[in-house]
Amino acid sequence: MCGIVGYIGHRDAYPIIMKGLQRLEYRGYDSAGIALYDGTNINLSKTKGKVADLSGKAKGEISLAGRVGIGHTRWATHGVPNDVNSHPHYSNSGNLVIIHNGIIENYDSVRKELTNRGYTFHSDTDTEVLVNLIEEVKKQENVKLGKAVQIALNQVVGAYAIAVFDRSKPDEIVVARLGSPLAIGIGEDEFFIASDASPFIEFTNNAVYLEDGEMAIVRLGKEIRLRKIKNDAITYPNVLELQLNLEEIEKGGYDHFMLKEIYEQPRAIKDTFRGRLLADQGIIRMAGIDQNLERFLNAKRIIIVACGTSWHAGLVAEYIFEDLARIPVEVEYASEFRYRNPVITENDVLIAISQSGETADTLAAIKLAKENGAFVFGVCNVVGSSIARETDAGAYTHAGPEIGVASTKAFTTQITVLTLLALKLAKEKGAFTESRFHELLTEIEGIPQKVERALESNTLIEIISEVYKDSTNFLYLGRGYNFPVALEGALKLKEISYIHAEGYPAAEMKHGPIALIDEQMPVVVIATKKGHYEKVVSNIQEIKSRKGKIIAIVTEGDTQVRELADHVIEVPESSENLSPLLTTIPLQLLSYHIAVMRGCNVDQPRNLAKSVTVE
Ligand code: F6R
Repeated sequence: MCGIVGYIGHRDAYPIIMKGLQRLEYRGYDSAGIALYDGTNINLSKTKGKVADLSGKAKGEISLAGRVGIGHTRWATHGVPNDVNSHPHYSNSGNLVIIHNGIIENYDSVRKELTNRGYTFHSDTDTEVLVNLIEEVKKQENVKLGKAVQIALNQVVGAYAIAVFDRSKPDEIVVARLGSPLAIGIGEDEFFIASDASPFIEFTNNAVYLEDGEMAIVRLGKEIRLRKIKNDAITYPNVLELQLNLEEIEKGGYDHFMLKEIYEQPRAIKDTFRGRLLADQGIIRMAGIDQNLERFLNAKRIIIVACGTSWHAGLVAEYIFEDLARIPVEVEYASEFRYRNPVITENDVLIAISQSGETADTLAAIKLAKENGAFVFGVCNVVGSSIARETDAGAYTHAGPEIGVASTKAFTTQITVLTLLALKLAKEKGAFTESRFHELLTEIEGIPQKVERALESNTLIEIISEVYKDSTNFLYLGRGYNFPVALEGALKLKEISYIHAEGYPAAEMKHGPIALIDEQMPVVVIATKKGHYEKVVSNIQEIKSRKGKIIAIVTEGDTQVRELADHVIEVPESSENLSPLLTTIPLQLLSYHIAVMRGCNVDQPRNLAKSVTVE
């Protein structure tokens, strides 16, 4: 939540920061702001709205000159999104300026204390409190900016990634992180600061990721040193060579990132099993599992924690693990798990699923599980993210950067990793026959091509979307492996089109939701051949007799459902175990087209952010 960008070096800071903010807009887009140091003054412009609004405003409002600057794109926590609450924030003297991603929990008491000392506040934010605390410490202790930031951070409770600039020390920016990500790009006589590496990828591929509890004084002409916020211990940073390329973070001819990412799924799924799945040899090779096989095999149960779409991937995994590997699984919302005093033992394996690797609740659940002795395995997309670092072992989904706020390729690649994991454990446990194992491995290899075929329904789905774009409610039904897909389909629709949608196990319909069905109600039913087909057909009959409109996702060549449904969308045949990888595709496209037709901002839906670093 919130994106931060900073630059110090020999180039004009303005275009670098603005472009960087655009790339980080997926992290929050309520408001945006920039502060530039022109050699004498700090010039600051900020506005409610998006980075594009900021660029219009800043041009008319401030000098855009300067080789040092910081910028921010906000997802509001404390204080409504308006111009005043937008970042950066000045300190009272106007000498310090700050950007912040996170929450300062004790801001209210600190604010009262500072008010007693004569400080005034213009915004409702916790961030303005922090910058004034730094100013007060600097004055009281007579220390330089770096030390003042360190002392101040030891007085606050909360989460942060911050960058602070001091007009009296114009060759440096001080940064710190606890619970929110922060990367420093290292160029020739220049440094870039950002929430992730995308703002600086065309300038350098050398980067340092701060660990939780670390800070740095990024000073021109000096090498980066990292310092522990708690105790001054200095470390030499580990400079990583980034693999990211520019193409991956641009739209590449698509109207929206979401559509690009939907179409990337055949490649993303293939990249996720490439090198891991050796179907001809009957081997699944995954270092994170191979090195910890005993922990998995001895596990009395697997607990899966995640949020949102990643939680839906966890639900699919529950079916796979129990069905194939015969290991009991519990799937938990990370936000509930962390606060409900759960029973966790050393015999548990906890799998944390997260695209961003930064979700605050999932991170907290991991810490809790570790404290209780469980072995923690991460399934993340973002390399080097907090969750990837916090877990005992893990496997990356090689989806590539997912920029559209609605998760698509992350979901299918998470399912891919979890399927490989389940199959591997099933084989090790001797839970099913060699021939079935081989069959499934070969089938996985063919999935990318089947996803390509599923994508061919795009035009048909666009036509269907036109019919239902003005509906106010949708119901999504599925059974077995496709029940979580129904949940995911409903989430996708509501988050980007703002149409109310609910997902249900098809058989649950009779226990309540059936009352909603009338001729106005579109019901999306996943009715593929393998997996309770006849039962789902009965459910379709029940909807039809109540005049509901049926959009059915069926297996290629299906005739029975075609006679009943108002619309059918075909996906290639697959085993039930792998069907979510195919049935998800038309549901993603349906929500995409409906949202576009309703004029919604598909990549940046209202009130949402890609990376939820606050609880
Ligand atoms: C929905 C969506 C969210 C995320 C959730 C968890 O499309 O993207 O529901 O799935 O916020 O995020 P990660 O996976 O980054 O932990």
